[in-house]
Amino acid sequence: MAIKHFLQFSDFTTEEHEWIFRRAAVIKRKFKAYEKYHPLADRTLAMIFEKASTRTRVSFEAGMYQLGGSVVHLTTGDSQLGRAEPIEDSAKVISRMVDLVMIRTFGQDKIERFAEHSRVPVINGLTNEFHPCQILADIFTYIEHRGSIQGRVVAWVGDGNNMANTWLQAAELLGFTVHVSTPSGYEVDQAVAGLRSADSYKVFQDPMEACRGADLVTTDVWTSMGFEAENEQRRQAFADWCVDTDMMKVARPDALFMHCLPAHRGEEVEAEVIDGPQSVVWDEAENRMHVQKALMEYLLLGRVTD
Ligand code: CP
Ligand code: NVA
Repeated sequence: MAIKHFLQFSDFTTEEHEWIFRRAAVIKRKFKAYEKYHPLADRTLAMIFEKASTRTRVSFEAGMYQLGGSVVHLTTGDSQLGRAEPIEDSAKVISRMVDLVMIRTFGQDKIERFAEHSRVPVINGLTNEFHPCQILADIFTYIEHRGSIQGRVVAWVGDGNNMANTWLQAAELLGFTVHVSTPSGYEVDQAVAGLRSADSYKVFQDPMEACRGADLVTTDVWTSMGFEAENEQRRQAFADWCVDTDMMKVARPDALFMHCLPAHRGEEVEAEVIDGPQSVVWDEAENRMHVQKALMEYLLLGRVTD
């Protein structure tokens, strides 16, 4: 039987995503009630980080322990991955010893090559192209606060990056629209995002227009990990793509603000917005753990109903 991986949002069907959201709610309730739930006892997750992380590391590690399992944490610096052992060999070896692998790396091609040679499911913990676990958490957070995201409008203000691509994939699968506004030269690329059509997004030059009437306004850092050499050039290009109170005012009155974090107040978002009443960024961060527990349970055990 083919192994199920979660390398991009579109690896799951609409129905599978709906299952993960429902299951995340159940698992979150158990956690909040201090109910012991150890379906992954004796299972091990390997986490491979080629880029820095706070949320991804803590949420996967704490989540795996809460499910009764264990984790192995590897970085490029402290493993043979940093000394050019081929990805294929690493995948064959690591996947003989653990039950699940989470990888944060650079090109999507690297995680795909790893998955091709892995005996166990592989989860994308962020690549240059995608960040599917974050969008699972963001949509779960939206559902918790406002109900179904179907038919809603999400305004993306900023870089056409891994987060933007993943929002676009999610829109296509879950039936909402993304209003995208990026500076010129930093547009989303439909081919990189892997979309079937352009029906689920609209491009706006003016970020204010992208936010008009939106149910959710979201943004991300101007310079993603791996692009630090472009920092100065990006600072200049993105100066008008700062989510401020004027942008939030033209969105719907009940619009939410999200940011995957880490954030830079005064760059991509004003402090008044991210620390204001419409912001749900702390719920978003916490929900990484709950959705990823549901994801790990699903990849290893299928549809558990207790
Ligand atoms: N949002 C997110 O993935 O955060 P980290 O880089 O801290 O893991
Ligand atoms: N786009 C950002 C997200 C960080 C969680 C990056 O790739 O650095």
